[in-house]
Amino acid sequence: MIIATIDKLKDNVGKQVTLAGWLYQSRSSGKVLFLIIRDGTGLCQCIVEKGKVTDELFEKLKHLGQESSLTVTGTVRQEQRSPGGFEMTVSDAKIIHQAIDYPITPKSHGVDFLLKHRHLHLRSQRQWCIGKIRHTVVDSIRTFFNAHGFILIDTPILTAMVGEDKESLFEVDYFGDPLHLTQTGQLHVEAAAAGFGKVYCFGPTFRAEKSKARRHLTEFWMVEPEIAFIDLDGLLELAENFVSFIVAQTLQKNKAELETLGADIASLQKIEPPFYRLTYTQAVDILTGEKTRKSLADQLNQLQNDKQQIETQIADLEKQQKGQLKQPKMDKIAAQLIELRSELAEVSTKIENNPKHAELAAQFRWGKDLGGSDETIISQMHDKPVFVTHYPAGAKAFYMKTDPANDKVVLNFDLLAPAGFGEIIGGSAREDNHDLLLKRIQQQQLDVENYRWYLDLRKYGSVPHGGFGLGVERTLAWLTGEKHIRQCIPFPRMMDKVYI
Ligand code: 4AD
Ligand code: MG
Repeated sequence: MIIATIDKLKDNVGKQVTLAGWLYQSRSSGKVLFLIIRDGTGLCQCIVEKGKVTDELFEKLKHLGQESSLTVTGTVRQEQRSPGGFEMTVSDAKIIHQAIDYPITPKSHGVDFLLKHRHLHLRSQRQWCIGKIRHTVVDSIRTFFNAHGFILIDTPILTAMVGEDKESLFEVDYFGDPLHLTQTGQLHVEAAAAGFGKVYCFGPTFRAEKSKARRHLTEFWMVEPEIAFIDLDGLLELAENFVSFIVAQTLQKNKAELETLGADIASLQKIEPPFYRLTYTQAVDILTGEKTRKSLADQLNQLQNDKQQIETQIADLEKQQKGQLKQPKMDKIAAQLIELRSELAEVSTKIENNPKHAELAAQFRWGKDLGGSDETIISQMHDKPVFVTHYPAGAKAFYMKTDPANDKVVLNFDLLAPAGFGEIIGGSAREDNHDLLLKRIQQQQLDVENYRWYLDLRKYGSVPHGGFGLGVERTLAWLTGEKHIRQCIPFPRMMDKVYI
């Protein structure tokens, strides 16, 4: 028996093939069964007519539980209306394993329930689409750097260094001595850049973020290129070419998945260099300006209208629920209600937050780091990613190079994805002067002994160099339109819970 896969059905129209997979959904209308089979490459509707298979098999298939595994054999037909565009007329089937009472039904479930069942929820359409896009993003990251002459350097996960900030370190007992899980591979790729010129590391990084915010995981994947002999302008140019490449690859390879997820494809198609550039000081002017005040007030109005509309829809469905309806219709209403109530909760939170965010923005003072809501405001005003450069030295990590033209700021940048998504990249030119770097390490009360090797890099052939880090999950959330980045990693780790 040769097993065909659903993604190759177009080459098998009119032929008899066997598919091996799982039962995704089924319904029957008396003498015909409609089985939707998934095999990891796609979905296919398989039609079983009574009389075309044995009565015994027909009955078994009719009562087969969701997610049972099976093979089906039959003839392939083109069918526009079917998911995937093809259908199979079944002549035989073999049940491999019967699943009974699969916990995730086609009805909607709450987020918490689905996270507890992530090992099974990975089989859902949404998770499947996100997983495929994640694969493309990771692959394009490697392809881009490999094609541009970068060497992959694997950096350690156990380290004595504080890479970013002391507050978000995970401590590990290393044979009686404390070490940390790495927050960034950057310090080590800096050493490698002096050996290879252009390098990148790509792996998991860890931050004990005491935050349940939608942008924070405690374990996330980051790619970090590091380049010898580069300045801030060179870094911005590299970053915009890199991000544009990832977007183009995703559009080319995963259009169908983006459509299924309801991603904003038209906006993604606009992503090409050059991106917008703002200095931090200009960003502060925007935040505290009249235009921002007005646009937040308009947003509040819009949100209140949306809330009213959702409430009306909910009331209407609740009324219908009280009537005499058939079970499938009841299930549909229940699913719609779960969806609408979660939308209502979201809009209500936004209404609650709007005045807080407006106040934070209006009172923003030069010197602070931009917060999540400030980034959202700036990025909502742009239809393409925007670089924010030259942050106050006091708000940023010790390794960033002081601007020789203005010692209050550093030569760094954050890249904010458009339409409110916020930061997906952080990067900078590195302090390459030994004494200035030592001063910064001491100012931030880091243990100088741990940084001797890092300071050495500034003693033996120091060069201007720099790099950046792009977070994979944040990038995916932006591309797919997912609200929370926990949906963008197969097994998320968050502050409040590690489920599986
Ligand atoms: O801005 P960050 O902290 O920069 C660094 O770690 C630098 N050492 C990178 C470098 O210059 N080589 O983090 C970089 C990116 C962020 O822009 C964001 O996309 C992601 O990493 N990130 C997180 N993603 C998910 N959860 C978190 N808690 C994250 N913290 C940062
Ligand atoms: Mg950052």
